[in-house]
Amino acid sequence: MAFLRLLERKPDGAIVFCETTSSDVPAYAILSHTWGKEEVLFQDMEANADMSKTVSKAGWRKIKFCARQAAADGLRYFWIDTCCIDKKNAVELSAAINSMFRWYQNATRCYVYLSDVLKADGVDREIAWKDAFRTSRWFTRGWTLQELIAPRVVDFFSSEGERLGSKLLLETEIHEITGIAKSALRGGALSSFSIRERRSWAERRSTTVEEDEAYCLLGIFNISMALIYGERKEQAFRRLEEEIHKLNKGVDFEQYTVGLSLASFPEAAQFVAREKELSKMRELLYSYGRSSRSSVVLHGLGGIGKTQLAIEYIRRHKEKHTAIFWLNANDEDSLRLSFRDIAQQILMHHPSAGVLCNVDLDGNLDGVVRAVKTWLNFRDNTRWLMIYDNYDNPRTADYADRSTVDVRQYLPESDQGSVIITTRSANVTLGQRLHVQKLTGLKDGLRILSNMSRREGTNDNPGAKALVVKLDGLPLALSTAGAYLEHVTTSFAEYLRLYEASWLKLQKTSPKLNSYEDRSLYTTWQVTFNRIQKENPASAQLLKLWAYFNKQDVWFGLLRHAQSADDDWVKKLTEDELSFNSAVRLLCEYGLAHPEPSLGQPSGSTGYGMHSCVHSWTISVLNDRWDESLARLAVTCVASEVPSTDADRWWLLQQRLLQHAARHEHSITNVTADIVGLEWALHNLGDLFKDQGKLAEAEAMYSRALQGREEA
Ligand SMILES: Nc1ncnc2c1ncn2[C@@H]1O[C@H](COP(=O)(O)OP(=O)(O)OP(=O)(O)O)[C@@H](O)[C@H]1O
Ligand SMILES: [Mg+2]
Repeated sequence: MAFLRLLERKPDGAIVFCETTSSDVPAYAILSHTWGKEEVLFQDMEANADMSKTVSKAGWRKIKFCARQAAADGLRYFWIDTCCIDKKNAVELSAAINSMFRWYQNATRCYVYLSDVLKADGVDREIAWKDAFRTSRWFTRGWTLQELIAPRVVDFFSSEGERLGSKLLLETEIHEITGIAKSALRGGALSSFSIRERRSWAERRSTTVEEDEAYCLLGIFNISMALIYGERKEQAFRRLEEEIHKLNKGVDFEQYTVGLSLASFPEAAQFVAREKELSKMRELLYSYGRSSRSSVVLHGLGGIGKTQLAIEYIRRHKEKHTAIFWLNANDEDSLRLSFRDIAQQILMHHPSAGVLCNVDLDGNLDGVVRAVKTWLNFRDNTRWLMIYDNYDNPRTADYADRSTVDVRQYLPESDQGSVIITTRSANVTLGQRLHVQKLTGLKDGLRILSNMSRREGTNDNPGAKALVVKLDGLPLALSTAGAYLEHVTTSFAEYLRLYEASWLKLQKTSPKLNSYEDRSLYTTWQVTFNRIQKENPASAQLLKLWAYFNKQDVWFGLLRHAQSADDDWVKKLTEDELSFNSAVRLLCEYGLAHPEPSLGQPSGSTGYGMHSCVHSWTISVLNDRWDESLARLAVTCVASEVPSTDADRWWLLQQRLLQHAARHEHSITNVTADIVGLEWALHNLGDLFKDQGKLAEAEAMYSRALQGREEA
């Protein structure tokens, strides 16, 4: 930090300079103001200056004010930017600008002198000065931003030198005028605010010299850089940006920067609430200069908002990472596919990335996983963030179920980077755990309802309030109800009645359901289902059939071989892509399904997925027992699509089919399924497993097919 030249008020009232060393700075007050006419400059205060001229300058008033106020607060020393920096000395000026944030931060008190606010007498005194306060020029200048934020104690004064109040007392007004979060005004660590948010605080402020618009932000971003007056504003901002990136992402950040690809992310909802969780995550995941891995485990009920919380975290803090990758940790196949997607993203930005450019992306994916991990393990590649979503089936040491996952095999080994894991399991201990719970505020629930239903006035609607209370802070239930209400004219109160009727019915039909949360969710879907059944029976049937496929990535090609002699809906659904699309679109409109992030599928075969809670409901309620004919239909569909290994892009199609085949593996190999007439299909599934290196599964399929033939 540069040396600090203070002013001292001597016992005889004289005001003189006092030079300090950085280790020996007395307590001091500091002034914040906007420059006016006839400011007192460094030269006016030097020992040889003609003080009679100095005191006759208009700016002397401020110096006297500051000296008096400091004395009243028991402070002998104070600092004023007009005269305490020798601006003719470029070296001193540059050092001062780079230190100024800390000078304000270390001051015992900061006085804001508002020359355009009068605290005149009168009946409406307070109203009058508050109006002037709101429009004061002080809030429009660049430099005053750090002067507001850095010091702990800030007092505001009118032009007569009368105290108006402290930063704390006027917090609400200041927040409204400046848009700066109250927690920042209270001294919260600036690193907890995203770069974009900090930039926004300065957006409507300006400076006399254009480059200063960038230079006045050095302290806000905790960086230093050379000042080059004359470089122009754009160049100054470019350099500022570069320094910010270097600080956040490391000196070699460009070498490891991969632009964020939203294509592999789940769809983001209009996010509400969860401020506490977000700031806890930031605290756990990011601290400047950290040299070891930081991991956060978000755990909580299905549909409670873990995935959305992770997405929102990324939206707010993406600048702090060089690369952010989203992985589906639901099962090992999905994980491996995610790694393939990551490899493609890295190669797109760094085509010559040594470890990756020789890996066969269409070959054995274990090699791809290894190569990506090696890239993430590079010594200087420390600022990546990986999100392992849906880690719901962790493998325990003594349990070797193939559907479980040991995520550690998919984590880079080196002690660096940041990791977020979302899970429903309370047993994941791979990082700091954060329990994501129901939303507690009525207002938050109302916001989800109003965002999703696109209806206004929910805050004053008793029906909407009652519905929010009923749905008990479950974001998924609230958003389903909202999606329904967007499409119908039903009032909130009427919806509540439908909901209650449906709840009672569910209690009769599925008495075994024991979780209250599941009941709430299932009831909202049932109301939606009844509606869909009326609008398009094929959509409703598709929902039922979906229980026999995997929850993610169902597309037209997968269903086109569905045949059923006596079911019209199957014909209608699979007639052509248009009918399929219109059936699935209705499910999307009502929030029961959504287009999937594309993982490199050819265009024209967009897959659709559903939330895993919705899928569980299609399995346990829509199909209250395993429906043999629907299961056979699904097996036929998957088996008919299995491509041989000489087809174009066979590998990609097989990968997509694998998860749907896995849905039937258990019932087929455990001899519970009726396979008469399906031997050919089992054989195809055997081929699929074999080509994908799943030899145990392949063998089981072949032997069931053989057994079937022998029985026949
Ligand atoms: N903070 C939020 N603001 C607005 N909507 C939300 C929020 N959290 C969740 N939702 C809504 O609830 C739905 C379910 O949330 P999300 O998918 O994040 O749950 P989850 O906990 O990840 O569930 P699962 O364990 O099944 O993966 C979202 O699709 C969204 O519509
Ligand atoms: Mg989730």
